[in-house]
Amino acid sequence: MPRKILVTSALPYANGAIHLGHLVEYIQTDIWVRFQKMQPKDKVAECWYVCADDTHGTPIMLRAEKDGVTPEALIERAHGEHVRDFAGFHIAFDNFHSTHSPETREYCEIIYERLRRAGLIEKRAIEQYYDPVKQLFLPDRFIKGECPKCGAPDQYGDNCEVCGAAYTPNELKNPYSAVSGAKPELKDSEHYFFRLSDERCQGFLRRWTREAGRLQPEAANKMQEWLGAEGENRLTDWDISRDAPYFGFEIPGAPGKYFYVWLDAPIGYMGSFKNLCHRRGIDFDEYFRADTQTEMYHFIGKDILYFHALFWPAKLEHAGFRTPSGIFAHGFLTVDGVKMSKSRGTFITAESYLKTGLDPEWLRYYYAAKLNATMEDIDLNLEDFVARVNSDLVGKYVNIASRCAGFIGKKFGGKLAATGAEWQKPVRSASARIAEAYEQREFGRALREIMAFADMANVFVNDRKPWELAQRAGQEAELHAVCSQAIEAFRLLTLYLKPVLPRLAQAVEAFLGIAPLAWDDVAAPLPEGHAIEAYRHLMTRIDPRQVAALVEANKESLAPAAEAPAKDERTEEKAVAETTAPIGIDDFMKVELKVARIVDAGQVEGAEKLVRLSLDVGEEKPRQVFAGIKSAYDPAQLIGRMTVVVANLAPRKMRFGVSEGMILAASDSKGKTPGIFLLAPDAGASPGMRVK
Ligand code: MSP
Ligand code: ZN
Repeated sequence: MPRKILVTSALPYANGAIHLGHLVEYIQTDIWVRFQKMQPKDKVAECWYVCADDTHGTPIMLRAEKDGVTPEALIERAHGEHVRDFAGFHIAFDNFHSTHSPETREYCEIIYERLRRAGLIEKRAIEQYYDPVKQLFLPDRFIKGECPKCGAPDQYGDNCEVCGAAYTPNELKNPYSAVSGAKPELKDSEHYFFRLSDERCQGFLRRWTREAGRLQPEAANKMQEWLGAEGENRLTDWDISRDAPYFGFEIPGAPGKYFYVWLDAPIGYMGSFKNLCHRRGIDFDEYFRADTQTEMYHFIGKDILYFHALFWPAKLEHAGFRTPSGIFAHGFLTVDGVKMSKSRGTFITAESYLKTGLDPEWLRYYYAAKLNATMEDIDLNLEDFVARVNSDLVGKYVNIASRCAGFIGKKFGGKLAATGAEWQKPVRSASARIAEAYEQREFGRALREIMAFADMANVFVNDRKPWELAQRAGQEAELHAVCSQAIEAFRLLTLYLKPVLPRLAQAVEAFLGIAPLAWDDVAAPLPEGHAIEAYRHLMTRIDPRQVAALVEANKESLAPAAEAPAKDERTEEKAVAETTAPIGIDDFMKVELKVARIVDAGQVEGAEKLVRLSLDVGEEKPRQVFAGIKSAYDPAQLIGRMTVVVANLAPRKMRFGVSEGMILAASDSKGKTPGIFLLAPDAGASPGMRVK
């Protein structure tokens, strides 16, 4: 029976821009889908690719408030930007919808109701931190305080960025709300739980995660660890409700209670598909009924495996729907070997890449060359990016056409001689093997094989030297044959590369005067006498200066408070506002501010944002202070300057040494005016003077 396939990529959060990390996933999925769509109908009857914006939750609500717009307006703006960025990288969704949609609400309610009737929903009172100023229950990431292990200040509610300790928000010392600065209170509230601890769920998941094809081997192992052995009840119930105020769907029959964003997010896959079905006359139930023969695959990052490999199948199964055929998790993107970083300029947005004038297919090719079916991280090495694209795509692949097409036009009226030849046989017969590599998501392997054929075609052209044949009388037939065979090889390579380079393939189809290439066209060489168009430039080389400009465009100087790993850029529960409650003069006087002279300053090996300062504070010995001002100040230029230091701050042990104070600098927390501005006293002040 021909396959019918539904494919998804994870739904991007509506409060962030699409960046090169996201694109690993969307490009990977798009290549796989395009490959499926090239298959003959008797193999793959249909393949649908859907996605949506993930629009609900506290961070989006607070972000909208901060921007002074409604959440609806915020998510609409994001939708427009996301659609634009995806189109720019040729990501061909059949539908890009929103979780804030009637379809998603409908399936949330259906699934919730069925789980409830199955006895898998339970109501329970829990204690949770509450912001009395903002009148809001606080997600873990919105609570900050001192690390219970090392005492570092301003750490998030779930883990410490200084010593790496993990804990719960209740363990933080002197907790405060990152939203209002107020001291949070523990407050009781009724929450709804999905009873994952129920033996029905545990038993089902233990079987399901072991079934062939569902999970990659590394993922299956991880799940077995989480699930534990038979009879070992490791899974705890999952809290699926949040209290008002919340941006999301209200739970039917539970006023003031909302579905937690991660409950409705994967249901957004169904919502988006339902919306597509409605518009295109596709049978939704054929894809989602429990006994379906159709396939469903989710491409995701390894960070959200838990949600997709445990919660999601358990929800679907016990609500009487089909479960995923497979979950395909990929690793994380690093740039030049490290996490994407705003201060380095490697936190690169999709928009800036396109605006700088870089070709999206360069990135598609580079990612594809690096991708495989594992969860390993993939590195975008900027130097290698330039070298690889220039050598493979321009130097090897496009080069074949650019060296031969001209002769066909000039000498033979654009008409080809016989194009098929014995030497092309390995290229043609590799079709099934290359298809298998694409199917298995071993894109790197597919491209290595394809490039080996490009080498082969170039050897053929180099040996037969059409440019010399063209100089010699009586060699016309030979010249015609060589160029026609090379053009046919170029057609074959284009076909194989088409899932990766859809736009280039389209340009080649126009140049060759042929219908859109499908996978089985491998078998049919261009016929003798076939006319091709005049050759026009297909792809340019990357100029390394373009890449330098891209990095420059993404360099951002960040306030010290923002010294956080890239993860926080996408963490759902990210602080978005920081204001503080009023304090009295006594509280202020507790802070000992002193004038300091910077007597020495230097780089800190391995720190992205820090500068090491030696400060004369009028004491016997200078103090060592680490300051997050590297993006704005060159250490050499700081030496001799006067500034203000918090002198009675408890010494803080950092990875690089002890910091014995904190210097003062201004920055725009809204990020509208980038930069960090060091404070300085007027002339005449001397080290050690008290500031008050
Ligand atoms: N909204 C959730 C997904 C809900 S799916 C029902 C989410 N959104 S996200 O915007 O943070 O990430 C979207 C996808 O991009 C995720 O699969 C995530 O793993 C992936 N990536 C985000 N940053 C990434 C890198 N730096 N590298 C590779 N993939 C990354 O998670
Ligand atoms: Zn700590």
